[in-house]
Amino acid sequence: MKILAIETSCDETSASVVENGKHILSSVVASQVEFHQKYGGIVPEVASRKHIEVIAAVVKQALEEAKIPLKKIDAVASTYGPGLVGSLIVGLSYAKAIAFALKKPFIAVNHIEGHIYANFLNSPPFSPSLIKRGGRGVSFPFICLVVSGGHTQLILVKDHGKYETLGRTRDDAAGEAFDKVARFLGIGYPGGPIIDKMAKEGDAAAIDFPRAMIDEGYDFSFSGLKTAIVNYVKKLRTMNDELRTNIVASFQQAAVDILVEKTIRAAKNRKVKWIALAGGVSANSRLRTDLRSRADKEGLSVSIPPIWLCTDNAAMIGCAAYYLLKKGKKSNLDIEAVSTLRI
Ligand code: KG4
Ligand code: ZN
Repeated sequence: MKILAIETSCDETSASVVENGKHILSSVVASQVEFHQKYGGIVPEVASRKHIEVIAAVVKQALEEAKIPLKKIDAVASTYGPGLVGSLIVGLSYAKAIAFALKKPFIAVNHIEGHIYANFLNSPPFSPSLIKRGGRGVSFPFICLVVSGGHTQLILVKDHGKYETLGRTRDDAAGEAFDKVARFLGIGYPGGPIIDKMAKEGDAAAIDFPRAMIDEGYDFSFSGLKTAIVNYVKKLRTMNDELRTNIVASFQQAAVDILVEKTIRAAKNRKVKWIALAGGVSANSRLRTDLRSRADKEGLSVSIPPIWLCTDNAAMIGCAAYYLLKKGKKSNLDIEAVSTLRI
């Protein structure tokens, strides 16, 4: 079963061919980041225009790299939400048109579900522990921490397509907090990767920023942390590079502590042995290391996709689509983009 998947929910135009929900035959991601950088954030109108410009070439390249002619594709999938509606429409319409022309099944996929399914994909590089386990993958039930630019959610995944949301952010998403703090400090966009790199040079214990609601339930709140940084900086007379680096490292540690603590607690309370990471913020090196070491101490197993599968990509959509199709969950071609879609 070879699925052609398309993902255009935000500022990445991506297409991929995935075989049997596991093997990535191709994955093409065209980033628009340079067009949004000068605005310090994504401009939705620019994003949809850029998707239109490159979608045909991206899909063509994905088919060429997979060495599969379009007519040999068994099904077509696309993200239909959540995301920027103008961006979603481009990929969704393009995918629906291909499915219609080929008379092949069409599967509309929830972007968050796609992020979770990145944990089921097999892709190089294969570590020795992966090979020993017989490939990448998690075992049900597992706790998934979904952390991206638009979402922060703790989800108990009971089986394919069976989710129980344990908690979500009450204000900013984790990635949004990284991006806003970076913008405030004037260190660039997108904030997540820049903060990650810069924090490696700083002292994460230099400033004790608040860990809001860390011992309280499974919901998150990141706006207080962002405000704490703003207030801290406003009280300073001067700022040098060393102090800025320490602020960044201390902010990242506070955010990571909250995410790790709640995820581990959820796994222990719900008596679940596996934890998975999903979404752009799971590319964060501190989060990856800290979650792994805490889980090791608690005797829990962890699944963390390679970085290029944590950020937006169509391979994860192709993987989720495979499991939906296996359950007979095809979509009608009149399905529309839903920018506020929930899992
Ligand atoms: O999943 P994603 O690519 O797009 C959305 O669905 O939102 O996530 C993008 C978010 C951005 O906020 C970006 O700053 C953050 O993921 N991000 C990171 C890192 N790489 C990307 N945050 C922290 N550390 C990183 N290394
Ligand atoms: Zn995403």
